[in-house]
Amino acid sequence: MENKNRAQFSSKFAVVAAAAGSAVGLGNIWRFPYELGSNGGFAFLLIYLLFVFVLGMPVMLSELVIGRRSQANASGAFRVLRPNSRWHLVGLLGVITAFIILSFYFVVAGWSLEYVFQAVANNFVGKAPSDLSQVFTDFTTEAVRPLFWTIVFVFITAFVVLAGVQKGIEKISKILMPLLFVIILILCFRSLTLPRAEEGVKFLFKPDFSKITSTVVLSALGQAFFSLSVGMSCLITYASYVSKKNNLVHTAFEITTLDTLVSVLASVAIFPAVFSLGIDPSKGPELVFITLPNVFTQIPGGYFWAILFFLLLAVAALTSTISLLEVITAYVTEEFKLKRKTVILLSVGVLIISSGLSSLSLGVWSNLQLFGMSLFDFFDYFSSKILLPTGGLLISIFIGWFYKRKDTFDELSNGGKLAVPLFNIYFFLLRYIVPIAIALIFINELGLNK
Ligand code: TRP
Repeated sequence: MENKNRAQFSSKFAVVAAAAGSAVGLGNIWRFPYELGSNGGFAFLLIYLLFVFVLGMPVMLSELVIGRRSQANASGAFRVLRPNSRWHLVGLLGVITAFIILSFYFVVAGWSLEYVFQAVANNFVGKAPSDLSQVFTDFTTEAVRPLFWTIVFVFITAFVVLAGVQKGIEKISKILMPLLFVIILILCFRSLTLPRAEEGVKFLFKPDFSKITSTVVLSALGQAFFSLSVGMSCLITYASYVSKKNNLVHTAFEITTLDTLVSVLASVAIFPAVFSLGIDPSKGPELVFITLPNVFTQIPGGYFWAILFFLLLAVAALTSTISLLEVITAYVTEEFKLKRKTVILLSVGVLIISSGLSSLSLGVWSNLQLFGMSLFDFFDYFSSKILLPTGGLLISIFIGWFYKRKDTFDELSNGGKLAVPLFNIYFFLLRYIVPIAIALIFINELGLNK
């Protein structure tokens, strides 16, 4: 049954643009390249791809089923499908995860805005690599400027979400996602035509299995879930706005493919350039903020490439932050019967405080630590390596063991109207492989087996 009063995406393209907009973000352009660079290149990519298709996509399909079947928010969805149980807590965990992810994500998104302005002001020119690294450290450890950009990003996000599902989220995704594709293709072309670009390509496609450890395997799992936006009910929320006519299997496949493609393209845009200039590929989170400005100062037309790149980063981040804020907004609006506007205003308040603290924890308030990490690193670590895999585990157990197989089939086949290729394999993965694999990776890495 379709709920006529509920917001809905207007077309198939809108669904893919919004969901791929959520999936494609800092995870693909900022995080994936540095994880790849420091964790064994191609070997990491292979493990990552395996996790995306065998573990990530089944969880994504489950989230789509839960969301569209129930037509409710992250937590309400479980209550509709399993009344009088505690499953709704999985949705609540998702809402909490959204807050935690946003608390560090807004900070990095803010950096991308600062760098757009630095690029426009032509500030990278004439700086040596060590100067550029100093610029980054000085900026991120300063109090006011990063805080300012973080808050600007919170407001832009809130503004889009306030405009609503169709007029805000859908509209902006339909414009920004194609733009993002064009920008990244241009950058790949530029990077591949630099002298000695082959070395970067070789690095990308030459596996170094000696680097693969249990920590790297957990990183690949966390990265897969983080990048696909699965494990915290984000896609449950978006799927609740999807028409009953939409083919969910196609949609999941398209989101996964686009997301993976952008991660690989981002690496193709970055590594050949890095090698062309002889920069260390295993730099961490600062890779795109220090290494790339270096590249831009040394290539023809660098001024424009720099602006284009940081714009790309900001655009990708925005379509992701809106999806995370929508999870919170839909949940509070529906569960506490509050106005959208009120909820967004309240969330903005909380998020400014939490992301502000995480930004300050990198500099002036470096004693803001949890478990030996800065607040910023803790939010990042805890959300992608612990909360998302846990959420994914619970969601797979829910669909695999606590929801009727025939109802799942019914939702995926639109009431028997569509063929669902590989349904048996999908269900088998969810029931056995996904939960066991996640549990094993956890036990192995967190040392629970010792
Ligand atoms: N996937 C986004 C990225 O790669 C971030 C993101 C948006 C996300 N929504 C999410 C991560 C939900 C986990 C869950 O940047």
